[in-house]
Amino acid sequence: MAETGAPGTAWVRKDLIGLEDLSRREIEMILDTAPQFLAVSKRESGIKKVPLLQGRLVVNWFHEPSTRTRTSFELAAKRLSADTLTMNVSVSSATKGETLHDTLYNIEAMHSDIVVIRHGCAGAAQILAERHSSCIINAGDGAHEHPTQALLDAFTMREHFRAARQDPAIGLDGLRVALIGDIAHSRVARSNIWALTKLGASVVLCGPSTLLPAAFSQMGVDVTSNLREAICDADVVYALRIQLERQQKCLFPSIREYIRLFRVDEDSLKAAPPHAIVMHPGPINRDLELSAGVADGPRNVILDQVTNGVAVRMAIMHLLVNQPTIEN
Ligand code: CP
Repeated sequence: MAETGAPGTAWVRKDLIGLEDLSRREIEMILDTAPQFLAVSKRESGIKKVPLLQGRLVVNWFHEPSTRTRTSFELAAKRLSADTLTMNVSVSSATKGETLHDTLYNIEAMHSDIVVIRHGCAGAAQILAERHSSCIINAGDGAHEHPTQALLDAFTMREHFRAARQDPAIGLDGLRVALIGDIAHSRVARSNIWALTKLGASVVLCGPSTLLPAAFSQMGVDVTSNLREAICDADVVYALRIQLERQQKCLFPSIREYIRLFRVDEDSLKAAPPHAIVMHPGPINRDLELSAGVADGPRNVILDQVTNGVAVRMAIMHLLVNQPTIEN
């Protein structure tokens, strides 16, 4: 484990709430810590575990549905040899009116070390981090941030282009990333914008103007409602899920209209450079924001994102609890 060399930078944060707060160096520390854990997960012989969180308790506390993030955190904790506890919110005392703080005080009375929380309200992870001693990891708070998703996305881009360009040292400087679709409701988009711009990539946002609030243009990104313009020079075409559950009212005229103008499919992808890869955070609305052919096609790295997610989350939990020094 490459964590004790000097000179180095010590990890000092207790929590991971969002990428708006993190420096480029902190983001790179996470990305640089992940490969050793990817190697653990890929072991063909021997145990896919390391003892870095042995005896620690990781609590998964998801107030919204999740497949990837919840299972990825649970697996990451197990591969670090931690004990894991999954809170079932639908049968917990939250249904009787217990507050988030009171619930967490009770969990902490049982000596939790890390609490991974997904919640529909922006800021839920932040208010817990301010008052509680456990390391709090934001697994998605409303439409605000989804930091671990953006970190696994950045790691996936970096790994892909390091391999494709046969240069194990390159970062994301100069990369062009097109984020397509429901920007307005997307915590994935917000966290990706913070991560990618801090790492030196340029970002273009594309979607119907009703799903593309003007405030985003102040985040140092380009904005367009023309899909072909957005992807013509993109190294990464990143389709976002249309979040039908977060829309208060219909924000585009019809599904058919959205598909015609914004779907990433075999036809629209002809506008992208041949080397461009396709990403999606999941879950996919097949044939809505992404055609099934592209979702399963040769340019997609969607399941690499999932594989890398475990390694990146192992890296984050190791950094938060063990606060190692990482070589510069
Ligand atoms: N990408 C993502 O957050 O997926 P889940 O909602 O399944 O966790």
